[in-house]
Amino acid sequence: LIPRLLLLPVRIAARLVRRLSIALGHAERALLRPDAAARASRAEVGAAMGAHDMVDDPDEAYYRDRYLEWIAPRLPDAGVVLDAGCGSGRLSVPVAQRGLRVVGVDFLGESIERARVHAAAAGVTDAEFVEADLLEWLRTQPDGSFDAALFVEAGFVIPQLEDTLRELGRVLRPGGSLLGSFRTQWFLALLAAQRRDWAMAELVLTQRSGALPGLGWQNWHAREDLDELLARAGFRIDARQAIGAASGIEGDPLAAIARPAELSASDREGLARLEGAIGAVQPYNGRYVLVDART
Ligand SMILES: C[S@@+](CC[C@H](N)C(=O)[O-])C[C@H]1O[C@@H](n2cnc3c(N)ncnc32)[C@H](O)[C@@H]1O
Repeated sequence: LIPRLLLLPVRIAARLVRRLSIALGHAERALLRPDAAARASRAEVGAAMGAHDMVDDPDEAYYRDRYLEWIAPRLPDAGVVLDAGCGSGRLSVPVAQRGLRVVGVDFLGESIERARVHAAAAGVTDAEFVEADLLEWLRTQPDGSFDAALFVEAGFVIPQLEDTLRELGRVLRPGGSLLGSFRTQWFLALLAAQRRDWAMAELVLTQRSGALPGLGWQNWHAREDLDELLARAGFRIDARQAIGAASGIEGDPLAAIARPAELSASDREGLARLEGAIGAVQPYNGRYVLVDART
């Protein structure tokens, strides 16, 4: 009993220090002006993603196919599709190959260059790739100028997410789909548990954005707050699907279950069927939650 009593003040002090460090991180972020946060995020995103071509990565190719099989039936038969945060054109190019005009926007020059090369190699002529900050660029576009918008794995690194979503809603024609994927709270909770990083777990459970150790600044979502965020931005969610419900890329907690690149073609097929089914039932339990949201 006595050693336990002696440990109590130490435990209370450790908990206070943890709470204080989370509160300070939050306060520091809150003090940062949005434009400063966006600049900091751009440097982090550039360092993490600038050299990475998601088109050539076999894990990312598996997830591209999962995105496409869900997104394709929701695309219009004709018109212009915006790919917001298009990266190297992993989705812009196959969508343009369906006969739709695509405008891809990304602030990383290397990614835009790669998207142009991939589009040319695929024989795509009706795709335009613009190097720009997404929110700044959206503000220059007329109302209702796109028939659908892709916003895949981009919102989680954009500090001004709500403003960006509102602008995406404005540039979509009425009834146009936003096909967007967002980081789940569940994924980051698993990552914190895998790392035994309980301070990160506390942050992930109590906040919905912040600087994560080794990952830079991110947004993440549980069911209710994503619904509310999209509603505030003028959207209603029509359908949801988890992407990566039982698999992951290198470094992901779910890679311990399956890494698509390491599987045989028939195992990948089995995984895709399983993830499609369970991801429809448990859309917030995956690497990302993909939504079809209408204005
Ligand atoms: C994980 S990648 C996804 C790329 C692509 N959507 C895909 O699924 O293959 C995220 C992309 O969002 C871009 N991005 C992040 N913040 C941005 C911003 N504020 N303006 C423009 N692009 C941004 C990054 O440069 C990066 O290429």
